[in-house]
Amino acid sequence: FEFTPANLEWAKAQMTKFPVGRQASAIIPLLFRAQEQEGWLSRPAIEYVAEMLDMPYMRALEVATFYFMFQLSPVGSVAHLQICGTTSCMICGAEDLMKVCKEKIAPEPFQLSADGKFSWEEVECLGACANAPMMQVGKDYYEDLTEESLAKIIDDMAKGDVPKPGSQTGRFSSEPASGLT
Ligand code: FES
Repeated sequence: FEFTPANLEWAKAQMTKFPVGRQASAIIPLLFRAQEQEGWLSRPAIEYVAEMLDMPYMRALEVATFYFMFQLSPVGSVAHLQICGTTSCMICGAEDLMKVCKEKIAPEPFQLSADGKFSWEEVECLGACANAPMMQVGKDYYEDLTEESLAKIIDDMAKGDVPKPGSQTGRFSSEPASGLT
């Protein structure tokens, strides 16, 4: 693995944001960019980022395994759906959303759909409890989901569309104004 020239330039710019000797502080954005480039975070990608930041592979791996925004195995080429299954979302219908995922994507979390385009998993609270039930896809939050709206989002993504994130019922949304980068 190695960054594309554009990503390499971007990564070097991130590293200059930290004092000399503290470049390891750029670990999260660099790992995330590697994941965006590759679709998931392979061992060679983690090793590459660790070497860039002059830190032991094991320390980079610790970060990659701690946060569930990092995928350490291949995920759907179009989207990996992270369905919140914590209390508010569970009460408001997370089980129904996971039923849709099981039917439309694959019976088990992290299993690829037959066409390889989608995968899903259950995750812990993502901090958007007021708009439960919700899911995260990449950097986007999709909130106030129903079985119907989730099924439509999956269908639209499969066609190449990018469904509008945020509340799917038009309520005030906790969708972040800007992502990690
Ligand atoms: Fe689902 Fe908090 S419980 S976002």
